[in-house]
Amino acid sequence: MASSADVREGEFDIVGPEAIRDPHGYFGRLRETSPVVWDTRSRSWIVTGYQEVTAALRNDKDFSSDRIRPFIEKKLSGPDTNPEVRAAFDVLENWLVFNDKPIHLRLRKLINQAFMSKAMERLAGRFQALFDDVIAEAPDTGEIDLLKTVTVPFSASVISEMLGVPPEDRARFDDWHRLFGPIIGASLDDNSKYDMLAQGVRELTAYVRELMARYRQEPQDNLLSELLKAQDDADALSEEEIVATCTLVLFAGSETTANLIGNALLALLRNPDQMALMRGGDVDVGNAVEEFLRFDGSGKAITRVVRQDTEALGVPMKAKQRVFLMLAAANHDPSVFDAPDQLMLDRAFDRGHIAFGFGVHSCMGLQLARLEAAIAIPGILKKWSRIELAGELEWHPQLLSRGLKALPVSVSV
Ligand code: HEM
Repeated sequence: MASSADVREGEFDIVGPEAIRDPHGYFGRLRETSPVVWDTRSRSWIVTGYQEVTAALRNDKDFSSDRIRPFIEKKLSGPDTNPEVRAAFDVLENWLVFNDKPIHLRLRKLINQAFMSKAMERLAGRFQALFDDVIAEAPDTGEIDLLKTVTVPFSASVISEMLGVPPEDRARFDDWHRLFGPIIGASLDDNSKYDMLAQGVRELTAYVRELMARYRQEPQDNLLSELLKAQDDADALSEEEIVATCTLVLFAGSETTANLIGNALLALLRNPDQMALMRGGDVDVGNAVEEFLRFDGSGKAITRVVRQDTEALGVPMKAKQRVFLMLAAANHDPSVFDAPDQLMLDRAFDRGHIAFGFGVHSCMGLQLARLEAAIAIPGILKKWSRIELAGELEWHPQLLSRGLKALPVSVSV
């Protein structure tokens, strides 16, 4: 925990160019001096130590996941609020990830039934075929953006299939979540993004309701049909909760996975010895995926809100203060991982990484994401015997997620 010798306050540039390009270096330096620090610029606590981040994720007495209701009350309750913007936030209010117990517990129990269903198991059996379709479309030689050509279409096709979106609607469907991605991944303080969010959510939710009507009549092997069936005693998910959950899955499950696979490929390209191990089939793919998640996972941080004035993580905190729990820094904490800045695909994990979060809100899609990565990473290497970086890299300037704008490579079979 933070000691009294630590720096407790400073001005940091947590979305500045350096932190965006090299979050492990930037937040790692912060972790060495001040694992829990108040940033006067973002007016937030920045938590970077593994022990501190996991302690916070365990402590739902002091830290709340509900950052939507306070925002609605403060900014969207006035008479001149655009009703469409308000409606969009009403959908977000039903996302289980933004709820505390008892609401969270109830939603998670019901949604978990759908995730654990036989239908989802059968669906996972189709991931390889979905990947094969995408990779067959990719050119044999030339310069490509690996994200645009492979990882984004693959993860989008998985999520669409999972939700039961028919192939003819997929292009339309893919566009909507891009409209509300920026606001969730960035900051709620940026007003210009609300209209975009409202439009995306309106169109997407209308579409999900159409699908619900279809699968209520004729259930099929997809998450939506399973969410409609989920029951706990007499309790079931409401229509609003199902719509919200579908939008959450779309948002939480597609870009995150595409980015993880992209980050993993970049890590291999920058570490030729590990690339050789992977190409030679000398590593356990499941273990390698865990190392990719730890080394440069696509979730960089998690947000919590302080419930009441308290002493937590060794510092005095005030009600409503925002807390950024930096997964990227915790996963490179040398007190937990040997040589944390080295990619070691055969790393022995004494303690688990927290790329999927930790505790009651930990990721519900983690098995699916792992499976997608375990199919796509070796599949990409199998298709092209030569892959070389072929351009400048630019990262999305977001605090919560970690993903490249493009991964330009030159390839040949
Ligand atoms: C590499 C890919 C992924 C990463 C890095 C990731 C990361 C995370 C993290 C860090 C959380 C915790 C958020 C918090 O505590 O506030 C989370 C929650 C969640 N994730 Fe994922 N995720 C990934 C893929 C997926 C997929 C594929 C799905 C669905 C198909 C999914 C569905 C969810 C859901 C529903 C939650 C909310 C759980 C709750 O609040 O109880 N995720 N994810």
